[in-house]
Amino acid sequence: MSNDGVNAGRRRFLVAATSVVGAAGAVGAAVPFVGSWFPSAKAKAAGAPVRVNIGKIEPGQQMVAEWRGQPVFIVRRTEEILGNLEKVAVQVADPESKASEQPAYVDPKNRSIKPEILVVVGLCTHLGCAPSFRPEVAAADLGADWLGGYFCPCHGSKYDMAGRVYKAQPAPLNLPVPPHSYETDNVIIIGVDQENA
Ligand code: FES
Repeated sequence: MSNDGVNAGRRRFLVAATSVVGAAGAVGAAVPFVGSWFPSAKAKAAGAPVRVNIGKIEPGQQMVAEWRGQPVFIVRRTEEILGNLEKVAVQVADPESKASEQPAYVDPKNRSIKPEILVVVGLCTHLGCAPSFRPEVAAADLGADWLGGYFCPCHGSKYDMAGRVYKAQPAPLNLPVPPHSYETDNVIIIGVDQENA
């Protein structure tokens, strides 16, 4: 891939990330807050952990955090959404994420520590665009059998509500689950592994 391609992809991500963060503002403090124990913006960019308050994410909705310069999608999943993960298991390429990146302490099927909270890196595993959050069931442009998930606008890859890529898509792998842990019920730390896992 040429540098032009990389830069074009980066531009698309930046535009998408900006618009997603703008939309997430509707749920309140959707942008992660940074505690005093983080040494500096420079250290954060280099990979320091990020503490995120997830308390205001409504059921079925997403917020976008940033970690290591990447968007991180955080979704509060409902019982219905979790039930739909079972239905699409035969349609996704790597249903238990055996080939895809995720920590050993997350459930292999729903890909999370707590079933209701999904945390994934928001970069398509094809060429790195930011997939769109499309939770609406049977969305007109995605088909009557669409049960919610992510759609990548660059080349059309589809993922389910666990970030698992459907079969026969340009993207080869599921969206990565980053290391993360719970400080409290409403605060997660991205970049720090769950203890006692
Ligand atoms: S970058 Fe997502 S499908 Fe190509």
